[in-house]
Amino acid sequence: MECNQPKPLIILIGPMGAGKTTIGKLLAQQLGFTFYDSDQEIERVSGASISWIFEKEGEVGFRQRETRVLDKLTQLDHIVLATGGGAVTIAENHHFLKRGIIIYLRAEVDIQYERTCRDRNRPLLQIDNPKQKLTELFCKRDPIYQQLANITIVTGHSSPKKMVHDILLQL
Ligand code: S3P
Repeated sequence: MECNQPKPLIILIGPMGAGKTTIGKLLAQQLGFTFYDSDQEIERVSGASISWIFEKEGEVGFRQRETRVLDKLTQLDHIVLATGGGAVTIAENHHFLKRGIIIYLRAEVDIQYERTCRDRNRPLLQIDNPKQKLTELFCKRDPIYQQLANITIVTGHSSPKKMVHDILLQL
């Protein structure tokens, strides 16, 4: 019996706009796994939008909900899980994320900005200078993403299909 096989659980980390949901859905399809998105799961169990949670409970309240959802989802297997960009900022979450193979989708700030600037459901970006905010977040979080990642894929320069192909080669 194989005892050292990694659990069939793929975790996507990376900033807002890196393409975690798009790539995650395609990857899950290719692997025959189920796709989950932690933000969608938070909204489903809370019965409220991410914006509403940030407004009523602040980022602290949102992070508590996120930690509970990550603990629950990372106990599943045969899933691909796209996590929110800030999931890695909470040390307790690292333990949950490490239950799976961690793939870092790394995107330049310009690409993150292009993909998020019209989205109203990202409360951290509902400010005067969202590009500066994305830059600050990237400076703080990129070292953490890199430290946690088993595999890093640069996004934004090739098609989702090609990126999924590259991921499959590295799994
Ligand atoms: C956040 C990223 C968002 C969402 C929330 C906070 C962050 O998820 O969890 O708005 O702190 O970067 P996406 O990365 O899926 O946009």
